[in-house]
Amino acid sequence: MKILNKIILLALLSLLISSCNKDKNHPGYIYFPDMHYAVSYETYSENPVFAEGKTNRLPAEGTIFRGGPEPYPYKAKSFEDQQRAGLELINPVALDEQVLAKGKEQYEIFCKVCHGVAGKGDGHLYTSGLFVAKPTSLVEDYVKNKPDGEIYHVITKGSLSGLMGAHAGQILPENRWKIIHYVRSLQK
Ligand code: HEC
Repeated sequence: MKILNKIILLALLSLLISSCNKDKNHPGYIYFPDMHYAVSYETYSENPVFAEGKTNRLPAEGTIFRGGPEPYPYKAKSFEDQQRAGLELINPVALDEQVLAKGKEQYEIFCKVCHGVAGKGDGHLYTSGLFVAKPTSLVEDYVKNKPDGEIYHVITKGSLSGLMGAHAGQILPENRWKIIHYVRSLQK
């Protein structure tokens, strides 16, 4: 009995040792390899199908990584582009109470200091004399008559004169549209 145990132990041990392999790139012996090996090419393997011989492909031209910069085809400080943005872009965010609340919050963080609580162009930075340029009133006809896309352009790229800077780095695209909803509500 004891001998039989030893033989079994020895057999198991030799199986264990022989199933290991010095070559780290080789999995060694596999029991029932059914689905261990895919027919497809591995991500980093060579590939005879493509011209450059690699399986891993470069992303298609114009690809944007998740959360990467938004494609924005309109140039800063170009009147034509600002107008074009006004004609081509529409507010993709549907208005509801939550959106308006978020727009108000973002407006008060990013715009109020210059444009004032009610959007009249009388924010603290201007009235205190710290900022010399008069911010445009957002509630008079001039901005009232601008399409949403133009305001979006101004937030994204700044004003044509450059007196108001670009806010693309601070405000998410979605929140810019929410701010516009809020500005529209101030105009009423
Ligand atoms: C640092 C101060 C400042 C901040 C912050 C600021 N603005 Fe302005 N804004 C200005 C000034 C100054 C002008 C006038 C610029 C000009 O005539 O070129 C202006 C102009 C504008 C105009 C009119 C642009 C045009 O075509 O004449 C809009 C619309 C506008 N701002 C919206 C906003 C919104 C929305 C925010 C918040 C996201 C904001 N601004 C933040 C200072 C500011």
